Amino acid sequence: MRKPNYNMTLFEERRIRLRESLSEQKVKDAAIVIFANRELIRNNDVPYSFRQDTNFFYLTGFEEPDSVYIFRPGHKEENIMFVRKKDALKETWEGFRYGTEGARKEFFMDDAFYLEEFSTKAASLLKDCSRVYFDLFSDPQNDATMKTIFEKIKNLNHRSGRGTLPVFSSKEVIGEQRLFKSSDEVALLKKACEITTQGHIAVMKEAKVGMNERALHGVFLNEIMKQGSPREGYGGIFATGSNATTLHYVFNDEEMKDGELILVDAGAEHEFFTGDITRTFPVNGKFSDTQKRIYGTMLELQKSLVAAVKPGVTFKELNSQMTRGVTELLVKEGVLQGEVDELIDQQSFTKYIPHGVGHFLGMDVHDAGLTMLKGEPRPLAAGMALTIEPGIYIPADDEVAPKALRGLGIRIEDNILVTENGNINLTADCPKSIEELERS
Ligand code: GLY
Ligand code: MN
Ligand code: MN
Repeated sequence: MRKPNYNMTLFEERRIRLRESLSEQKVKDAAIVIFANRELIRNNDVPYSFRQDTNFFYLTGFEEPDSVYIFRPGHKEENIMFVRKKDALKETWEGFRYGTEGARKEFFMDDAFYLEEFSTKAASLLKDCSRVYFDLFSDPQNDATMKTIFEKIKNLNHRSGRGTLPVFSSKEVIGEQRLFKSSDEVALLKKACEITTQGHIAVMKEAKVGMNERALHGVFLNEIMKQGSPREGYGGIFATGSNATTLHYVFNDEEMKDGELILVDAGAEHEFFTGDITRTFPVNGKFSDTQKRIYGTMLELQKSLVAAVKPGVTFKELNSQMTRGVTELLVKEGVLQGEVDELIDQQSFTKYIPHGVGHFLGMDVHDAGLTMLKGEPRPLAAGMALTIEPGIYIPADDEVAPKALRGLGIRIEDNILVTENGNINLTADCPKSIEELERS
């Protein structure tokens, strides 16, 4: 891997925060074990493009595959990494490896070993811990490795009367920390949102009748990479016409036709943070009357949802606001018949808006963090980031909707940071008004 340009103190600060949070929870002598992602083979000796496991990167900044990190807060050797061996031939083909020395020197590990030593060393490093945080049942190979280690520990603790070490979720404990963005992290997320915005603006400028969805996807990739983004935060959705009614449309291979809308949902990564913007606009540069009426209502609804984001509000409340707004629109347009309250009670809207109002956003597009606390919807709080993305999707083969609306899909998505007094829309510069979309 390349020598990182990242601000390496960020990773140390995160480890300090994690140590403090475990100590506030009165958890003593715990250890956290995190496996890096494996390099997956696409064919023969060609791997799929690699992205590090988010939690592994979050705490270490280390981007080599096939590594393991052990964090033992409060111990003399607190940070320990297991890495791939240096290998002159492999490094000639695939690039530099840090080895154990690099892990200590550049990534501030207190100790580092080669992977081959993992099961023996890990057993002695974890033996006296009170509990282990590990992401159990996410990866059978890692589960099997940990099983071997727990068995070794059992043997090491022979006749001590101790049972198997309790395992807690690393995903949850780290996720709760990732949910609250530090000021440095907010700056990284902002940058990801800025690059994403530039990508969408480039797409709006280039889009025209007769162009293929894929070519437009290429415009987005070109723009974000020009701006230094290494990759998208998720596979971009470039969905023209009724393709927009497939929520996670992935094919991106059809021609954009006169009179259609195109829904573009795409995000750029910046230092492992990602933006997640959706815009829907007319391929030929002009909304039809029907498109304008429905888009205009959805835009007002989206703006009112963004305005409602502040500390104390829950996703549940925002979802209710969204489903009411969409149901009212569906009744007005003759797609649903009946009383709005009754239709909401019967959840009649789910066919036309099958997803929620949004999700947490950060290093993963659908980011970490608990949405419920003690069985109740969690109130939003300053430092959280989320998307607001109401949508309406009328399947092309719907038999009850007026014919003119069939195949219509609209989503408008912005990225919102919750602040002490309300929120900041991090993607406010991405055009979404009817006037801007008809001009750009
Ligand atoms: N881009 C996926 C989503 O908006 O959730
Ligand atoms: Mn989203
Ligand atoms: Mn999205």
